[in-house]
Order: sequence, then C-alpha cells, then structure tokens
Amino acid sequence: MSYNNLLSNTESGITTITINRPSKLNALNQETIKELHEALKAANEDASAKVIVLTGSGEKAFVAGADISEFANFNVEQGEALAADGQRLLFDFVESLSTPVIAAVNGFALGGGLELAMACHFRVASTNAKMGLPEVSLGVIPGYGGTQRLAQLVGKGRAMEMVMTAGMIDANQALSYGLINHVKTQEELLSFCYSVASKIMRNSSVAIGAAIKAVNANFTDGVNGFDVEIKEFGNCFGTEDFAEGTTAFLEKRKADFPGR
Ligand code: COA
Repeated sequence: MSYNNLLSNTESGITTITINRPSKLNALNQETIKELHEALKAANEDASAKVIVLTGSGEKAFVAGADISEFANFNVEQGEALAADGQRLLFDFVESLSTPVIAAVNGFALGGGLELAMACHFRVASTNAKMGLPEVSLGVIPGYGGTQRLAQLVGKGRAMEMVMTAGMIDANQALSYGLINHVKTQEELLSFCYSVASKIMRNSSVAIGAAIKAVNANFTDGVNGFDVEIKEFGNCFGTEDFAEGTTAFLEKRKADFPGR
C-alpha cells in the first residue's frame, strides 16, 4: 500500500512506519492520522510483522504536534470531535494493538507527537530529542490522551508541571522521568530499536499480545487488571505457542513458536 504522508516497510519481521512530512516537521494532519491508522492496522494483521517501529523522517522531528493550521478556526463541537476521532483512530488504537509498537523518537515530539509516542508501548529517543506538551501556550489542552498518559508515565506532579509550563524536556531528563526507556545517538537509534525488536521476536507473539492487553487493563476505567490477567493467563494454556514453549523448555531446545 502507498501513502501520501507515510513510508511503511517490512523487513525481517519488523515493520518500520515513518511519518513523512518533513517540511511540516511531520505534524499530524487528518490525512496522516487516517493513514497511520491504516498502516498500523495492516501491520497488525500481517502475521510476518512481529514488531512495529514508528519514527519520523528527517533529522529534526519525530512529530511537532497536531497540524495547527487545520484546527485554528474550529468551534467547540469541532474541537471535541477532533479529539474524539483522533483518540479512536490513532492514539487508543495504537495502544491496544497486539503487535508491540516501539516509538523511535528522532527529534521534536511535541503535543500530538509526544501523545503519539506515549500511546506506543514504549519509547527510545535520540540525544537531540525534545519532548513537551505545549498546548496551553496555544490556549488549548492536550486532546489526544496527553493529560492521561503523561501522568501515568511520569507521575502527576511532573505531568502537571510539563503541561502548565508548556516547556520541553531533553532526552536525558525524559530518561530520568521514565518517559523514555533509552537514549541513543541519532545514528544508532533505529538499529538499537531493531535490536530490542529482535529480542521481542524470540518470544511468543500470542503471549505478548495477551500481556499487552493485561498491562493496558490497569489503565482502563472500570476494568480490573488482575481479573484480565487471570483470564489472559488461562487463555495462554489453550494456545499452540504455550504447547511449543513448554515442550521446547522440557526438551532443552529453542522454542519455534507458531505465533498468531
Ligand atoms: N502544525 C503545523 N505546522 C507546523 C507544526 C505544527 N504543529 N510544527 C511545525 N510546523 C511547520 C511550520 O509552520 C513550518 O512551516 P512553514 O515552513 O511552511 O512555515 C515548518 O513546520 C518548520 O517549522 P519552524 O517553526 O519553521 O521550525 P523551527 O525549527 O523554527 O521550530 C518548533 C521548531 C518545533 C519549535 C516549532 O515548529 C513549533 O513550535 N511547532 C509547534 C509545536 C506545537 O505547538 N505543537 C503542538 C500543537 S497542538
């Protein structure tokens, strides 16, 4: 499939999706959000794609936010619909995919860009990356899940300060906050993400999908994460991956998981 604002490429079990609007610092317009939905959906349905790496094109930005030029004239109803549609199509969607998604944050991740990185399952950033939620400087608040996911990842006090000041933090501060898991040079960023992806790919993709569901359950209103864990744990016992994983262990050989 070809896209106007994305590049998508699957190689050795890893799908790399690159947001490709460098002249606008990869800002998320509506078309890009829809294309990301399609590309992520396609990768999730492709049994040969075991891990997805999401990044931005160019050396300056991962994503510099939602495209401000598209919503500057919106009214209250349009603003609410913008947030609701975006959350459904992209941000909640990426978080709940059963295929692991790693954000390779290669530069500015601001507003919707940081919200997108935070909706991925975990994040690796390059040394030049700058992260922040500058929305209040525009007279609006984060609308793509930022007020919720930032507080989940860094704690309420740090999230409050980042949102209220509209400031940016650098990669080392983001690392110390637990917002990202690793800092690498820009040259090393993708190859490091691929090396983490290859560790993930040795394991059962079916079990990983179940684990994502159970971890996410802790952050879902009205859902008891422990109950989801019990259910997903039980379901694993009915899978071919479980049969293969336990048999391989007992036979002292490497598991060859059939996967999903
Ligand atoms: N929406 C729309 N266009 C954006 C954008 C966004 N969020 N972020 C950057 N762009 C565009 C700029 O308008 C500019 O386009 P132009 O060349 O047609 O004028 C181009 O991308 C390059 O950006 P520029 O501001 O010239 O780069 P810079 O290096 O001077 O500054 C930033 C980089 C990231 C600090 C600055 O672009 C910025 O503050 N962006 C907005 C961040 C933001 O508020 N995001 C939250 C949105 S809710």
